Amino acid sequence: MCGIVGYAGKEVCADILVNALKKLEYRGYDSAGIALFEGDRIKTVKAMGKINDGLVPKLSERKNLTATCGIGHTRWATHGEPSDVNSHPIGNGRVSIVHNGIIENYRELKKFLVSKGYGFESETDTETVAKLLDFYYEGDPLEAIYKALNDIEGAYALSIIFREHKNRIYAVRKESPLIIGAGKGESFIASDVTAILEHTREYYLLEHHEIAVLDENGIKFYDMHGYDIEKELQTATWDITAAQKGGYEHFMLKEIAEQPSAIKNTLSPRIKDGLVDFSECGLTDEKIRNYHNIYIVGCGSAMHSGLVGKSLIESLARTRVTVEIASEFRYQNPLVTENDLVIIISQSGETADTLEALKLSRRLGADTLAIVNVVGSSIARDADMVMYTNAGPEISVCSTKAYAVQVAFMYLLAVKVAFVKDCIDAGYCRELTEQLLQIPGVIQKCIDRKEDYQFVASKIMSAKSLLYIGRGLDHALSMEGSLKLKEISYIHSEAYAAGELKHGTISLITEDTPVIAVATQRRLFDKMTSNVKECKTRGAKIVMVCHEDMTMDESCVDYKIPLPSVNDLLMPLITVVPLQMIAYYTSVYLGCDVDMPRNLAKSVTVE
Ligand code: AGP
Repeated sequence: MCGIVGYAGKEVCADILVNALKKLEYRGYDSAGIALFEGDRIKTVKAMGKINDGLVPKLSERKNLTATCGIGHTRWATHGEPSDVNSHPIGNGRVSIVHNGIIENYRELKKFLVSKGYGFESETDTETVAKLLDFYYEGDPLEAIYKALNDIEGAYALSIIFREHKNRIYAVRKESPLIIGAGKGESFIASDVTAILEHTREYYLLEHHEIAVLDENGIKFYDMHGYDIEKELQTATWDITAAQKGGYEHFMLKEIAEQPSAIKNTLSPRIKDGLVDFSECGLTDEKIRNYHNIYIVGCGSAMHSGLVGKSLIESLARTRVTVEIASEFRYQNPLVTENDLVIIISQSGETADTLEALKLSRRLGADTLAIVNVVGSSIARDADMVMYTNAGPEISVCSTKAYAVQVAFMYLLAVKVAFVKDCIDAGYCRELTEQLLQIPGVIQKCIDRKEDYQFVASKIMSAKSLLYIGRGLDHALSMEGSLKLKEISYIHSEAYAAGELKHGTISLITEDTPVIAVATQRRLFDKMTSNVKECKTRGAKIVMVCHEDMTMDESCVDYKIPLPSVNDLLMPLITVVPLQMIAYYTSVYLGCDVDMPRNLAKSVTVE
């Protein structure tokens, strides 16, 4: 996600825009820029890097900026790596825009605009919107906006200025957030209220496809048919720090809440007519058919998402997948050859062991595919192919939405490989992708059940150690759940294959040892029931995470967390939410530093 701002009023606004952007840097910090009405021109100043490192020094070279109207942007790169030319604002002198979101059909739009004689300087999807507005502009900005939005597919929050309409800003959104601030003799645009709290607490919430027009006389709102609309004024009660977390107490909770939209942003651009489309990165059907083995390499949660991927690809595509811990892989002289595909998973794209595993794989001649969240990161640049998870910045050290979108990617890969290898037909492929696109809504239902998680957290917070058990996909999820709890609440836990317990580890269970049993795979439910009973008879306190319609002998279960039922195959995307939330509330109740736990860093760039 990115941060966008705008100002229209009577004050010289360059510094107002820059200071507002600084309040939004948590939304992205790859580059920043502003565009101002200076004289009869639009002047744009933008630079790669954080605001104080790039934009501010560039602005200090510009004397006598007198503009009282302009727009600004701080970027989290999604299309086109961090660079000056890929920075926003983006325009062509007649039109300049800043954008937060993802234009899903930007390739088609770009092809159309090139056919109309337009050239492109950047690698961004945003530039297609700027050029489309210019294409449709014949003197009436609203008309141009209506026509352009009619062609665009995707999520966007846009602030737009037209050179011929001095000191006026047009703002419109679809899915990406945008608020319109109402000051005294001045008005503001911002991705969230954080950016404008020092100027005003009065603001309007812009709804989908509503257009706001700001100038020194105030604010007007229109619908997509050009009719005026009246809107209700809101008053912000947040302090600035709280607002950066969107009103959430911690970034981790905010990022869990962002999972539905993050998964949607990762899935929908890669599902065309119900089939998986990887054309963005060159992973062709022919390549997929020819790979002998698939390796998935990562660390921590990234590696855990690979475990889900192994299960899915092997069951759907009947293709061998080996999951490797990067720090082990790089020293074990792996059996990787030029006939293999090595998938490297990393949120930061900077994890040292994972980066070295990538380099080793390339030296061994394998094709390498990076699945990363940070555009232009070291791993993204070094891999043969790269696809980006569109989760937006993950600030909390504890990975949540990044893991979720990595798992979402595993589904895309499994369906793609299975379809290409004729293990599933187009009909089943469309059935699975349709179900996948419904998942964000189901996840939201899980997120809303916070009382369940608070209750369980209150019951385990005094434990010295606990077990997470599961079978198949649920074993992989148990590993992620155990890591979450350990890293943010400092309570020891261990994930165990449920069927393996009786081969030794069950001796750890004493009176009241908490056991979190993850049992979402219906075909294994009876076996899980037996394992739960084995634990219960030895005094364990059982928390059962399973489909809402699955029942177990009440005497076995101390607390059941019911999950909305979807295809068992898709349950990992649902199951991870209670595991994340239990860890979150346990950490909060223990007074731990949820977002910056002791001994940890967001990206482990040392070996
Ligand atoms: C997950 O909660 C941890 N913060 C950690 O395991 C993380 O997943 C791991 O360090 C890998 O990081 P990366 O995805 O940035 O490579």
